[in-house]
Amino acid sequence: MDERQQGLDAALIDFHELWHPQPFREPRPQWCERWPALLDEIMALPESGIAHLNDDNAAALALLARHLPPVAAIAPLLDLPAMPGAPLPERGMHWAWEIPGRKRQQIEAFAMAAAHGGQPVLDWCGGKGHLGRLLALAWETPVHTLEIDAALCDAGESLARRAGVRQQFIVADALASADWPQAGQHAVALHACGELHRHLIRDGVDRGVSSFDVAPCCYYRGVAENYQPLSSGLALQLTRDDTRLAVTETVTASSRETRQRDRAIAWKLGFDAYRRRVSGDAYRAFKPVPEAWLRADFADFLGRMAEREGLPPPSLRVAAEFEGRGWQRRDEVMRLSIVRHAFRRAMEIWLALDLAGFMAGRGYQVSLGSFCERRLTPRNLMISARLA
Ligand SMILES: C[S@@+](CC[C@H](N)C(=O)[O-])C[C@H]1O[C@@H](n2cnc3c(N)ncnc32)[C@H](O)[C@@H]1O
Repeated sequence: MDERQQGLDAALIDFHELWHPQPFREPRPQWCERWPALLDEIMALPESGIAHLNDDNAAALALLARHLPPVAAIAPLLDLPAMPGAPLPERGMHWAWEIPGRKRQQIEAFAMAAAHGGQPVLDWCGGKGHLGRLLALAWETPVHTLEIDAALCDAGESLARRAGVRQQFIVADALASADWPQAGQHAVALHACGELHRHLIRDGVDRGVSSFDVAPCCYYRGVAENYQPLSSGLALQLTRDDTRLAVTETVTASSRETRQRDRAIAWKLGFDAYRRRVSGDAYRAFKPVPEAWLRADFADFLGRMAEREGLPPPSLRVAAEFEGRGWQRRDEVMRLSIVRHAFRRAMEIWLALDLAGFMAGRGYQVSLGSFCERRLTPRNLMISARLA
C-alpha cells in the first residue's frame, strides 16, 4: 500500500463521525455536541459562504482544521498530479458533430492523457462512441466500442462512417460479456459507472489487458450493502451510502438547475418533517418523487406524498407550516453538509486508489492523476495502468 492510500485509509477512519452521518437524514449529527464551536461557526456563516464551502474542498478542510488540527494532514494527500498529455494530431472539423462543448472538451482531455501504446482499443460502455471515434482518428488504430444500448450504437456507427474510421460497435452487457475485454487490448473507459468500471478492471486484469485508462464515476452503482475493496490491506469499511459521498457535488449545474435542486431538497425535507410530526421522529427513506410533483405547489406536493406514504392529509395551514420548516431545514442541511463534504475528495481518491492498488498488485505500472480541470467535470480522476 502506498503512503497516500495508507494516509487516506487512516484519516477516513479517524474522522468517520464527521463524514458518515447524512444531515438530510440526521438533523443533528453527533459531532455537533462534541465540537460546538465548529457548529457555531458553520451556523453563523453568511449564505454565500455556505455554497462556497460545500464546493471548495480545500477551504472546507481548512475550516475544519481550525477546530480539529489533525484534519490538516489530509490536504496534501489530495494533491494529485495532472496526467501528462500529448497534443492530439489534427483531426478535421467534424469529428465532434453532435457533442456538446463541455463533453467534447472532456473527451479530448481524456484522449490526450491516455497515451497510445500501439494496441487495439476497447472503448468500454462507450455510449455513441465519441471517445472511441476520436482515438481511432488520432491513433489511427482499430477501435471496438462496447455499449448496451443498441440505439446509441446505431447512432455511433453512422458517426463513425461519416468520420471514415475503423470503429466497430458491440451491443452487449458489459457485466455479462464472455468475449470482452481481450488480452493485449488497450481498454479505455470514460465515466463507466460503478460496477461497470470495477468489472472491466477485475476481468481485464484476469484476461491480460495490456493497458487501462479509466475515469471512474458513480462509485456506488452496483454496490450491494457494503463496498468490497479490490485491493488488500485497507481497514476502512464503507456502506453503499458512504460511497455516494464521492460524487455528491454538482459543479456543472446551471443556476436554474441549482434553484430546482434547492427547492426539491426543501420540499422533501418539509415532507420528512411532516412525517416525523405525525408518525414518529425518525428518518425513513422514501421512493423517488415524480418530477411533476415538484413542479406544482407545496401543498399539492405534500398532499400527494402523504397519500402515497399512508399519512393523514395535511390542511393548507399545516402545509404552509411545513413548507417553511422544509426551507429552514434545507438551510441547516446545507450548513451541516459542509463538514461531510470536506471529505468528498478524500473518499473519491480512496476509492480510485483501491482500484489502482489492485492493478499494481497484479503487475501493472499504475498512475493516478486528473485528466482535466474540475470545471469540465468533477469526475476528473484517471487511473492509468500498463502491464509491466
Ligand atoms: C455515463 S455514460 C458514458 C458514456 C461514454 N463513455 C461517454 O463518456 O460519453 C455510461 C454508458 O454506459 C452504458 N451502460 C450502462 N450499463 C451498461 C452495461 N451493463 N453494459 C454496457 N454498457 C452499459 C450506458 O448506456 C451509457 O452509454
